[in-house]
Amino acid sequence: MVAASAPGKVILFGEHAVVYGEPALAAAVDLRVRVTVEPASRDATTVNGHPLHEAHHAQISRAIDAISPKRFFTMTTDSQVQSGAGLGSSAALSVATVAALQELEGAFDRESAARVAYDVEWAAQGGRGSPTDTTASAAGGAVLVNGPVGGAGDSPLWEIRRGERSWRLSRFELPPLTLVIGNTRERGKTAVEVAKVGRFAARTGFAREIVRDIGKVTHGALASLAAGDLDGVGRAMDKDHNLLTILGVSTARLDACCEAARKVGALGAKLTGSGGGGSMIALAPPGDAEAAQRIAKALERQGATAHIVTPGAEGARVE
Ligand code: MEV
Repeated sequence: MVAASAPGKVILFGEHAVVYGEPALAAAVDLRVRVTVEPASRDATTVNGHPLHEAHHAQISRAIDAISPKRFFTMTTDSQVQSGAGLGSSAALSVATVAALQELEGAFDRESAARVAYDVEWAAQGGRGSPTDTTASAAGGAVLVNGPVGGAGDSPLWEIRRGERSWRLSRFELPPLTLVIGNTRERGKTAVEVAKVGRFAARTGFAREIVRDIGKVTHGALASLAAGDLDGVGRAMDKDHNLLTILGVSTARLDACCEAARKVGALGAKLTGSGGGGSMIALAPPGDAEAAQRIAKALERQGATAHIVTPGAEGARVE
């Protein structure tokens, strides 16, 4: 039997805009998806004791098609990342499944797992989206997408192309950050939100302007991060959240959670991931464990589930 795990992620800056080639910064968080695989004794694949169902197990069935199309497996999955929470559960499931199958075939490799998992996600999400989540989950740490070439912390990982679009993925050295994740427990659907922004951007120059503004905010945030200016990072988070709200992907609950976190001392707060529900993140003042607890409590009072995390967890691994 082979077991592999892959982390979820938060997007610190640039979600949605990254689909259009703007930069984004994502970081793995230590909420993991674990997958076990063993060859089946009969000609049928099962997942957690149920027959593999192409629609219900979209990522798993596509990963098998990509890596071991003629084989049958007994598989289990176990996730600390709630699906629809904007924390990369789908990408982490794809990456962990690909990693486990690759290992069983004798060839686990993070870059190739990131590439195959992106193909799997692309198909599962109806042909939309960027490789941000899958690369953050496979590589771990913090991942800069389409960052300035040779910019601060630029250490190239790989480039991924899809049609006319391409994304340059690099490692980024984050200063130590304490983030409080607030999961609103309203489910967001990445494919729906990405498609909605796609329609808005196709119809109005205004939406394309907002996408470019998000790119500018991300560039500014990268400079603040490199300078260790966490107040500047927090202000950039607030701006990014406002722009994402204008794009139509925030919700009343996400806005209320961001506001509640700011009120009790967060340096900044924004939704993370595709929005439409899901999660937000708040930046706690450095070295102030009590402030992080205060923010977590404020988010819980808004009905959210709170996790205090240090972004930059290990990427996909065989266990
Ligand atoms: C979802 O975590 C991030 C989005 O930018 C979509 C994508 O990049 O694929 C909303």
